[in-house]
Amino acid sequence: MQEFLEFLTGEIEKLHQARTFKVEVALEGPQDHRVKVNGRDVVMLTSNNYLGLANDPRVRQAAIRAIEEWGVGMGSVRFICGTQVLHKQLEATLSGFYETDDTILYSSCWSANEACLTTLTGSEDAIVSDELNHASIIDGVRLAKARRYVYKHNDLPDLEAKLKQARSEGARFILSVTDGVFSMEGELAPLPEIIGACERHGAVLIVDDSHATGLLGSRGRGTAEELGVWGKVPVHTGTLGKAMGSAMGGYVTGPKAVIETLRQRSRPYLFSNSLAPAVAGAAMEAFRIVMQDPSRTQTVQANARYFRDRMGSAGFRIPHGMHPIVPVIVGDTALAMAMGKDLLERGVYVSGFGYPVVPQGHARLRAQISAAHTREDLDRAVSAFVAVAQKHGVLEG
Ligand SMILES: Cc1ncc(COP(=O)(O)O)c(C=O)c1O
Repeated sequence: MQEFLEFLTGEIEKLHQARTFKVEVALEGPQDHRVKVNGRDVVMLTSNNYLGLANDPRVRQAAIRAIEEWGVGMGSVRFICGTQVLHKQLEATLSGFYETDDTILYSSCWSANEACLTTLTGSEDAIVSDELNHASIIDGVRLAKARRYVYKHNDLPDLEAKLKQARSEGARFILSVTDGVFSMEGELAPLPEIIGACERHGAVLIVDDSHATGLLGSRGRGTAEELGVWGKVPVHTGTLGKAMGSAMGGYVTGPKAVIETLRQRSRPYLFSNSLAPAVAGAAMEAFRIVMQDPSRTQTVQANARYFRDRMGSAGFRIPHGMHPIVPVIVGDTALAMAMGKDLLERGVYVSGFGYPVVPQGHARLRAQISAAHTREDLDRAVSAFVAVAQKHGVLEG
């Protein structure tokens, strides 16, 4: 035991030396456009609370009502005694939102991705996956028995080549999987072209729209709606832990046979507890709000445009795009970390990411904009960015 603990301590020390040891900032209240840190009022610029629903009074009340009506938890998995009418209602709400046959809930989108990839394929099949897909997809692909083909990020000729290769190497079925939005860049997958490639090669497309549901497209339906291919993605996975109430939970939505297979066979569904009623109630209210009133979707898009324009005019390197994830590239990892610390001291909480999360030389501060941000929040953030960048020589003074 002693030797084991000494080994772990040494590994942790290496993280400190490499300055990649992660420190958690404890918020002294709810997640919102402003949060309390060390007693101070701070603009939150690093949360996936894109629609500002995490602390919305209607969503909070829905969670409280769900506890009062349905209790705190089920103490079981869904197929034993863990399904309430509430869970069925939320699944029906999601199927209505996506206009699909059926939906299955998971305790996270991590589990949903793992479930999809491991349950829907066997050793005779192939999975074709973008190299920058989310870690849950990468792990799901690793766990699956299917043959793996990883294509270069958003590279359509390489996708086409990998689909062809999978077919020529005898795959029975091919699943192709991509993030709808890649979270380090706020970059959209070219879904119209990916759908075309999948159709040409008879592959089934799965899109993880965790960073798009509720915030992209005219009605918040996500990347497919934003890119004009609504209804053409057969299977979506998504999270309830970002725009849609920000609590937790995930889902897969699509054709009946897919969802039924997952309900019968997927291990994260069969062997893990049901979604807590408060979480299901909150998510249902979040979907109700977005479906009845697209104004939050429009506001987060307008806020993202405003922040991107202002940061660009101030001279920052912002990759072209429209998503509320706004990466501010500064290059060096230590510099990104130091700037993040200084920004927090100036009342703006934004996370720095460096190598190996992003390629060497592309370290960045990743700002995330919410519908809850006021113009004053965004102006304060831009001013803090300018002051900190001048201090570190990133911008001319
Ligand atoms: C693209 C993507 N998929 C899946 C997940 C995991 O979602 P959850 O927190 O619901 O497990 C995330 C969260 O970071 C994500 O960004």
